[in-house]
Amino acid sequence: MKAQILAMLRERTDYVSGQELCEHFGVSRTAVWKAINQLKKEGYRIEAVQNKGYLLETEAEVFGQNELESRMTTQWAGKPVHFFETIDSTNVRAKLAAEEGAPHGTLIVADRQTAGRGRRGRCWISPAGANAYFTLLLKPELSPDRAPMLTLVMAMAVAKGIGDTVGKTPDIKWPNDIVAEGRKICGILTEMSVERDYIHYIVIGVGVNVGKQDFAPEIAHVASSLEEICGRKVPRATLVANIMKAFETYYDRFLQHCDLTALMEEYNSLLVNCGRQVRVLDPGGEFTALAKGINARGELLVTLEDGSEKEIFAGEVSVRGIYGYT
Ligand code: BTN
Repeated sequence: MKAQILAMLRERTDYVSGQELCEHFGVSRTAVWKAINQLKKEGYRIEAVQNKGYLLETEAEVFGQNELESRMTTQWAGKPVHFFETIDSTNVRAKLAAEEGAPHGTLIVADRQTAGRGRRGRCWISPAGANAYFTLLLKPELSPDRAPMLTLVMAMAVAKGIGDTVGKTPDIKWPNDIVAEGRKICGILTEMSVERDYIHYIVIGVGVNVGKQDFAPEIAHVASSLEEICGRKVPRATLVANIMKAFETYYDRFLQHCDLTALMEEYNSLLVNCGRQVRVLDPGGEFTALAKGINARGELLVTLEDGSEKEIFAGEVSVRGIYGYT
């Protein structure tokens, strides 16, 4: 009910009477009063005036359970959402939730991670108060070989969600880094539990650099944040909710063919590598090629220096620009 009260107060520019809240939610005055007090404790500034009611003052950013719930406009993605001030890793927690029977669409969000995980066994430094760390749990009826494509679906959702929030859509660096002005602002880590030809669950973890921050020296030259790019504060709960909304739409399109047929044109329009020379860091030997875009399986199509064509599968290699990160 707290999230709904919050949403109602947010919609109004004038006071909402206690009586109206009681009637609307079918609860007592004491229940409303308690809910308002808890919201105040979470950091909302709510003015209470006798005979007038409650007024939500211009909001300082609050990133928490009620803010997330009240911003979510989806049917299933991000429902339920579970917020943690501090957690080891949202991916780890999402996997535990999956094992305990949490439904498809469950979202785990944290303000801080003590053991955030990146790809290739790296850690993802996750300080408090600055960024968005979240993991979406999916339980799809899909063949396991289709699962890696969902990382690309999430990359599109992140790009669209950022665009909807700040008014400027970033690029995608194949397969799933989100970049702006040539620097990485988001990473995605997908993990799954599979048994032969059956997916138990997939967790897609997303870390978006939102606030201005000092990055570790080893990544400072390739990393940036939304606030550095757009020069203003970015509300994290709205950002997460917009990403979930976009994911839901793209996921439906993914399910039409169980691949990226209905998405690849839009994906390729966001792809920073498109039409550029890239260095393919293949464990079997590095080579330079011209990137042309992805196919319906999410593989990167490249033209080699001898004119032949090749499809690159994301699991095997990574790609760099020949003059830098993108
Ligand atoms: C990468 O290396 O680019 C992927 C980074 C993914 C980080 C996110 S933060 C939320 C989720 N929980 C984790 O432990 N990792 C992912």
